[in-house]
Amino acid sequence: MYNKEFPEDFMWGASTSAYQVEGAAFTNGKKPSQQDIINKENYKKRGFATAEIASDHYHHYKEDVALMKEMGFKAYRFSIAWSRVFPDGVGDVNEEGIQFYRDLIDELLANEIEPIVTLYHYDLPWALVEKYNGWLSREVVKDFEYYATYIIEEFKDKVKYWTTINEQSIIVQFWTQKCFIPEELRSNDQLRYQINHHMNLAHAIACKLVHEKVKDGMVGSAIGYAPVYPLTSSPQDAMAAQNAHDLHNAFYLDIYFKGIYTKSAMAYLESKGLAPEIEPGDMELIKEGYSDFLALNYYYSDCVKACPEDDELRFAGVNWTGVKGAMDGHEHQPGFFQMCANPELETSDWDWAIDPTGLEYLLRDIYTRYNKPLMITENGLGAYDTLTEDGRIHDPYRVEYLKNHIKAMKKAMDYGVEVLAYCPWSAIDLLSTSNGIKKRYGFIYVDRTDDDPKECKRIKKDSFYWYKKLIESNGIDF
Ligand code: BG6
Repeated sequence: MYNKEFPEDFMWGASTSAYQVEGAAFTNGKKPSQQDIINKENYKKRGFATAEIASDHYHHYKEDVALMKEMGFKAYRFSIAWSRVFPDGVGDVNEEGIQFYRDLIDELLANEIEPIVTLYHYDLPWALVEKYNGWLSREVVKDFEYYATYIIEEFKDKVKYWTTINEQSIIVQFWTQKCFIPEELRSNDQLRYQINHHMNLAHAIACKLVHEKVKDGMVGSAIGYAPVYPLTSSPQDAMAAQNAHDLHNAFYLDIYFKGIYTKSAMAYLESKGLAPEIEPGDMELIKEGYSDFLALNYYYSDCVKACPEDDELRFAGVNWTGVKGAMDGHEHQPGFFQMCANPELETSDWDWAIDPTGLEYLLRDIYTRYNKPLMITENGLGAYDTLTEDGRIHDPYRVEYLKNHIKAMKKAMDYGVEVLAYCPWSAIDLLSTSNGIKKRYGFIYVDRTDDDPKECKRIKKDSFYWYKKLIESNGIDF
């Protein structure tokens, strides 16, 4: 069963996030975000580029939008840097900062590219970290409301599609990379789930604001999602897969679509002293802030097996080097599940399992459970690219990856799943959240290294031409 036609209005495009692509970190009134600080540390420790220049999209945005137009983009998903608009998190707006987003959105609309705006992608204003430890404090929720109210009001007539907070599930796993967490608090794992609870409140507020202010607006979260497979067909491993699904996936989606915390996941967290503190009224607010769709960021599937009760709690590992097999550990949730490598799947150089079928699987699964439209807002292969002597970048591995994932997405659509957009990661090369600039994802090459930003010259990769052809034929010719 495979019917090749995509809907006429299907939104082909790609994604980026502010701190990973913009640069100009201290330009025209912008003050630091926590990512400016975290990435400075990463440079010292691991030699990864900082966010200071990134891909210098701030100064190249017209050229970048023109390249997106040349590829035929119907949509572009990007995020707004909170500290460019409100350098201190709250208070006076930075006119030059907001003007950048007005110009960017106008440029997109002039080129008939639908803006899909993410309100928050890891880059909390540093001022709020200094003031009250950022997301660790409940105070952040009202400051997020102040920021979101301003942005949604500003762009309510130009932006229809909004995503709220990027990848809460990933923030819980990799909290010190995605949030600045003071050294002395890092051993308290309950705080991961407390941060997530604060984000659930902020997410609900943003959903309500879009519903109030944006005529025909649609809002949802962008979630990092991995379907979970059992390592073997043993009932114990199958149970572990159910447990991991409940804690990693249902725990977020039930909030967005049902306004509840998944009971099994909460019972587990309570038994380990990890459950968040919930105040009276919180769950009512969460219920009111319902989602219209779900944006999905999909890179890999997960594999789990049973985990002994007396094991030690551990969260996800990272491959810091880009040498296959160098992942520094796996998550263990004692008595619930432990993550492991899937022997059936090839991996990227950073040990991420490559699994197109996982995309069909998760789209079918989520749509069956929640019956809401879905969007792919990230999907892609982080890879080493080489600028060859002919001045080109030959990236057949990226084309292969994307092609197989698009086919899998289409299969799910042919089974009735409503998918509105495919916006892979990333429109142009950018700073990886965990591995610097050498791990590249873009259709457009940015000529720089981790140490040397050079001129950030743009060069079209082979995948650029491939994607252009695919969009031209609305998904038939690839
Ligand atoms: C997603 C994030 O988790 O994965 C992006 O939303 C990120 O910001 C992408 O860049 C790829 O991860 P990484 O660590 O390779 O940059």
